[in-house]
Amino acid sequence: MRTQVGIVGAGPAGLMLSHLLHLEGIDSIIIENRSRDYIEGRIRAGLIEQWARDLLIDTGVGERMQREGLSHDGIHFCFDGALHQINFRELVGKGVTIYGQQEVIKDLVAKRFADGGQILFEVDDVSLHDVTSAKPKIRFRHGGRNEEIDCDFIGGCDGFHGISRPSIPSGVLSVYDREYPFGWVGVLSQSPPPDKELIYAYHERGFALYTMRSPVLARLYLQCAPDDEVEAWPDERIWRELHARIGGTRELAEGTMLQKGITAMRSFVVEPMQHGRLFLAGDSAHIQPPTGAKGMNLAFADVVVLARAMVQHYKSGRGDLLERYSRTCLRRVWKAQRFSWWMTQMLHLHPTHNAFDRKCQLAELDYFASSEAGKRTLAENYVGLPVEI
Ligand code: FAD
Ligand code: DHB
Repeated sequence: MRTQVGIVGAGPAGLMLSHLLHLEGIDSIIIENRSRDYIEGRIRAGLIEQWARDLLIDTGVGERMQREGLSHDGIHFCFDGALHQINFRELVGKGVTIYGQQEVIKDLVAKRFADGGQILFEVDDVSLHDVTSAKPKIRFRHGGRNEEIDCDFIGGCDGFHGISRPSIPSGVLSVYDREYPFGWVGVLSQSPPPDKELIYAYHERGFALYTMRSPVLARLYLQCAPDDEVEAWPDERIWRELHARIGGTRELAEGTMLQKGITAMRSFVVEPMQHGRLFLAGDSAHIQPPTGAKGMNLAFADVVVLARAMVQHYKSGRGDLLERYSRTCLRRVWKAQRFSWWMTQMLHLHPTHNAFDRKCQLAELDYFASSEAGKRTLAENYVGLPVEI
């Protein structure tokens, strides 16, 4: 097989990269080790920054999101038994959209197929070759046969556990890593969310986040121990904690839990995000704790930069944008990392904190919920910083 850009991974990064390249007349093939049903059903992020919403609409994949997505003007912080609203629309003129990541995936997969795109599902034994030459190759097994894609560039869009990043020889990448002493237990519940806007709750029993997928489908998260198993969280315990941590500020309706899972918390970045003609994008290069919902948005931001750079290469033969790819992305990646780390440390109960530390957390929350400057800083980061090329 021969294509211009070989893409490993059909997550938000890989699918959007292929879509953006197609709009500029550049061919790509995506290989994905899971089935189409699996990736279209995998429940993950749900919050889309304003610029990413505009990107989906402007490139022709936002029609269902505009119909079914929930437009949000701001969020609530909940602490000391009260709700504090922060209205992003008033502060910075922008908002965010709630629309499940698996819905974005379905829309992108459908669009790639409608546009004649190639996505090979359920591939195995993927390996990358000659990435520092002008003719990189991807080898894999598909339908019981050995296959090879010859390409000009490889998009390493295969997430945190993929093979792209580990294909880069040790010593090339610098790793910046931080683990957190807690995780989240997350559930999808057939019940109305407690408020129209999201609620981020700081509580002496631990953090809780009340979000949603529709007016009748709540997405609820609770701080838990990092090594907790789902079995430690029966439905009754989850409801008890959710009721307690919302602190009587809102009624919380209970419903059937459709899905339950534990998410670990980690901040991780590699530099550079490139090795020869292999370009890492999205979770393969960086992950962050979910507080602040930056994961899918960062994946889109990386591939916007990458697609522009590849277009420049094919249209004008110049390589400066490709050379700058990693530097350009990392400036924004680190700001999103900082924001996710900051939200996480401000809102969670830390096992090593004492009463003084908790008073400081409350003062920080109070500042960011009441000061005009504090609220504006939060709003600017939450709705998404601009993507600079
Ligand atoms: P991915 O979505 O991981 O896509 C990578 C793709 O590559 C996958 O389809 C995978 O199957 C495929 N792949 C992997 N290895 C190979 C291989 N060897 N060959 C071929 N294909 C391969 N973010 C938030 O903002 N808010 C949240 O609430 C949130 N919750 C999350 C919950 C979980 C359990 C996880 C794992 C992530 C969550 N995230 C969340 C993060 C967000 O979902 C990711 O940042 C986002 O999916 C990144 O997109 P990506 O395309 O870079 O990677
Ligand atoms: C969602 C997840 C988050 O981590 C977040 O900060 C906001 C929303 C969500 O799944 O809707």
